[in-house]
Amino acid sequence: MLVSMDTTWDIERIRSQYPALKDGTAYLDGAGGTQVPDCVIEAICEAHRSGLSNVHGPFAASRRSVRLVADARTAVADLTGGVAGGVVLGPNMTTLTYRLAAALARTWVRGDEIVVSELDHDANVRPWVQAAATAGATVRWARVDPLTTDLSAGQYGELVTSRTRLVAVAAASNLIGTMTDVAAISRLAHAAGALVYVDAVAAAPHFRLDMGLMGADLIAVSAYKWCGPHAGAVVASPELLGTLHPDKLEPSTNDVPERFELGTAGLANMAGITAAVDHLADLVAGGGDRRERLDRSLAALTAREDTLVRGTIRRLTGLPGVRMVGAPTQRTGTICFTVDSLAPDEVAARLGEQGINVWSGHAYAWELTRALGIRDTGGAVRVTLAPYTAESDLDRLVAAMASMVAEPARS
Ligand SMILES: Cc1ncc(COP(=O)(O)O)c(C=O)c1O
Repeated sequence: MLVSMDTTWDIERIRSQYPALKDGTAYLDGAGGTQVPDCVIEAICEAHRSGLSNVHGPFAASRRSVRLVADARTAVADLTGGVAGGVVLGPNMTTLTYRLAAALARTWVRGDEIVVSELDHDANVRPWVQAAATAGATVRWARVDPLTTDLSAGQYGELVTSRTRLVAVAAASNLIGTMTDVAAISRLAHAAGALVYVDAVAAAPHFRLDMGLMGADLIAVSAYKWCGPHAGAVVASPELLGTLHPDKLEPSTNDVPERFELGTAGLANMAGITAAVDHLADLVAGGGDRRERLDRSLAALTAREDTLVRGTIRRLTGLPGVRMVGAPTQRTGTICFTVDSLAPDEVAARLGEQGINVWSGHAYAWELTRALGIRDTGGAVRVTLAPYTAESDLDRLVAAMASMVAEPARS
């Protein structure tokens, strides 16, 4: 994919839209949560300013709320390649995944099987493992290559059987950035009649999602990872959702997707979700409908991050004692490393003192850090790029790491 950074990526224009960047902090912790642009802040404020009420009341404020929710569903559908009527909105991915796991597990019987992966964030592991225990289903594990952290799609040929009901897999690792071949995994799962639940929380901020091409029956995203508010969504076909019956209050609607949404939504955040998707679509200039603009903008983002990540890895690898964790065949804008003489938390703390925000520890990649043998040694340092990441942020990171490893011992 060839995208000219010079002509299409106006980093200064993008950065000027993010008020949080004004204090000079290098926010390289996007996988933990991105900053939000003015348009998202404004949309949320404007929703409150113009008056909100609960949905389905007989007055204008309530009709505005209905519109905000409908718009957010359409925006998330555009982002994921789904349909608005299949977008379940909620507080975050973890809560929604527990909810979907409980509903799906009601359709499982003893002896059924599910497949989870070592690569995944625990939010796409534990809800399934626990739901399987309740249903008496067997859990099978897809393994990562401990050197590369690649998750081979081929192993699913053995893991998936005629008893498999669900395969849960990440589109990308939140810790290393490792991308998976979801389409190949889905083909094997579907051939056996299993559903595929894709955790795209760590993928959506870095590359274009298309749940149809991926073969995802359900796909989960979190808006706060792509410059939106703290909210999550799971997208499926309305037909699939119609076959599932979650616990719900008696008087609440039985409609799909609403029956999967508990209580009152964060209504103002709905406006923020829509604004964030619009913002992603407009990262680079150009016309077209929102899906087309998302195609173009996210292709440019992927290409830019790929260049920046390769350059940064090259420079960090040249520093004594800095070791990359994993060497995936394909990765998102994510870098993960350890330092021989310093604990990951210490590295992050020292960078934090210099206004460089990175994450450290296991980052909830619980099984992955165990498989890599780093869970008990403090995990790793994680750097993630976001649309607003400047080359100078990465220069600062490399310079700070260079002086840190030159003088690691500090009392
Ligand atoms: C890959 C991945 N999946 C799931 C989650 C959980 O998302 P949420 O915080 O929306 O529950 C995260 C959060 O960091 C993540 O990175």
